[in-house]
Amino acid sequence: MIPLKLEEDIKFIEKSALILTRVLSVVRNKAVAGISMLELDSIAEQMIIKEAALPAFKGYRGYPATICASLNEEIVHGIPDERVAKDGDILSIDIGVNYSGYFADAAITVAIGKITPKAKKLIDITKQALAKGVQKASPGNHLGDISYTIQNFVEQHGFSVVREFVGHGIGKNLHEEPEIPNFGRSGTGPVLKAGMVLAIEPMVNVGIWQSKLKANGWTAVTADGELSAHFEHTVLITEKGPRILTNG
Ligand code: MF3
Ligand code: CO
Repeated sequence: MIPLKLEEDIKFIEKSALILTRVLSVVRNKAVAGISMLELDSIAEQMIIKEAALPAFKGYRGYPATICASLNEEIVHGIPDERVAKDGDILSIDIGVNYSGYFADAAITVAIGKITPKAKKLIDITKQALAKGVQKASPGNHLGDISYTIQNFVEQHGFSVVREFVGHGIGKNLHEEPEIPNFGRSGTGPVLKAGMVLAIEPMVNVGIWQSKLKANGWTAVTADGELSAHFEHTVLITEKGPRILTNG
């Protein structure tokens, strides 16, 4: 069962998403050469707590931090550590907020200083893939329309979509039904309805789609060591179409 949110639920999810949007924009501006992943984590955590909210990832299945900071070939779930961002890196920052028992989840990939044209294209295509997927989040469409649109767009541009990690419903839990793969077929899967809230999150690789897990048991990296990017929004489906909640 995909939960349909009531007006009062949506108010809280919106508040959670607003906090998250502010935090992500501050962290984005701090993400420059010389800053450590732990410093970014600490900035995010302090901001979230100041807003009377909680970091949604910390403690989730034992995850040890507030943000996921995934550098270069890391796809998702990079655990913040002493590593420092350096010129030419790409950094995916994924943050979840729990406000009053309601969750929001969003991610961006940013360039540190001057990056290669290929890295720039990867970031642009992943961001656009998310936008195209979001456009399909309308009542009457199928879930597979989102998945197909993302995969088709990414592959048209010569990149690949990660298969092992997927988007998800969100609301009173960080992860709810349905799973939202970034690959699939149009016209398949559940029919979308107003009141659903979806975390849509394409993860896109320059090379092959396969990933492997680092020794820390969390961090996924590309199997071929090539770059990966990640964008995510929390999106409410309304009668009029998609409304991105993590846009401010
Ligand atoms: N956006 C990611 C997801 O939905 C981040 C989760 S991090 C975790 O899976 F620590 F909470 F797992
Ligand atoms: Co997510």
